[in-house]
Amino acid sequence: MSNISFSPLIVGCMRLGVWGAQMSTSEYEKFIDACLDMGLKDFDHADIYGHYTTEAEFGEVIKKRPDLKSKIQVTTKCGIKLLTPNRPEIKVHSYDSTKDYIIWSAENSLKLLGLDRIDLLLIHRPDYLMDPAEIAEAFEQLKAEGKVKHFGVSNFTTSQFELLNSYTPLVTNQVEVSLLHRDAFDNGTLDQCLRHKIQPTAWSPFGGGRVFNDSNDEQIIRVRQKSEEIAERYDTTIDQILLAWIMKHPSNIIPVLGSSKTARIASALESTQITMTHEEWYDLWQAATGVDIP
Ligand SMILES: NC(=O)c1ccc[n+]([C@@H]2O[C@H](COP(=O)([O-])OP(=O)(O)OC[C@H]3O[C@@H](n4cnc5c(N)ncnc54)[C@H](OP(=O)(O)O)[C@@H]3O)[C@@H](O)[C@H]2O)c1
Repeated sequence: MSNISFSPLIVGCMRLGVWGAQMSTSEYEKFIDACLDMGLKDFDHADIYGHYTTEAEFGEVIKKRPDLKSKIQVTTKCGIKLLTPNRPEIKVHSYDSTKDYIIWSAENSLKLLGLDRIDLLLIHRPDYLMDPAEIAEAFEQLKAEGKVKHFGVSNFTTSQFELLNSYTPLVTNQVEVSLLHRDAFDNGTLDQCLRHKIQPTAWSPFGGGRVFNDSNDEQIIRVRQKSEEIAERYDTTIDQILLAWIMKHPSNIIPVLGSSKTARIASALESTQITMTHEEWYDLWQAATGVDIP
């Protein structure tokens, strides 16, 4: 097994700042403390969140409360160049996984987050021009300097993962997984994680919230109805059923939650107590696909 140990759910930070809840520093602080009280120590960032502003907002709390440094485990990502007035030097929306850019980006994230070390750094998206030897050199340098502890990737195909992992050990592939997005079950990603004994992490476990809100999409209506039916059986709510469905897979997928509301995170955590049956799992799969399995 890889030697990173995640909490049962990861707290996503993408929607805490200007891309969502627009938290103040004291709201971030309360949010972080509440997650820690629930036993959730993992926080998932990316340099780009909030158009490169969310890491710094989160970092304001860490600078004020250095005690948090030893309590939290932080993932951040690099490699996407977004067009935004916050980074006027970027002229083209593009990916960059050159050695210099990875090192610069990790050091910048460290500074903004107010941390001494990033626990896990991910290449955010596969860069068509990536050179695995160069990425490995960047990772080795960051590790040797004590700036980053573990490395991984996000949204990588199985061949891209295999290639980079042959140069430098990767501890996760963070991919989109939900009843609305099931590619990882078919494209080899989860098989690969099992084979390498690493845990996949799953972004947008609720389809970015669409599963609760969209009332016109037939697939979503089917998924919601089936989840409600199963939730009744467990005397619970559909968020827990949707997460229990993801976590049933033997690769031990860890959902990366997107809520900014601690009550919703507390409810999500209870899903770890639910073990649905194989039949319930397939019932939900069929509700999602709209067709019987072969
Ligand atoms: N690696 C990547 O490429 C990538 C891409 C996207 C995201 N991510 C990571 O994954 C995390 C999660 O992604 P996501 O935000 O799309 O996840 P998500 O959990 O599928 O969606 C979050 C949205 O759903 C709403 N929601 C959550 N629980 C709810 C409930 N019980 N009832 C009604 N609405 C609910 C939230 O609103 P409230 O805040 O109001 O609860 C929020 O708007 C991000 O924060 C980020 O860290 C990574």
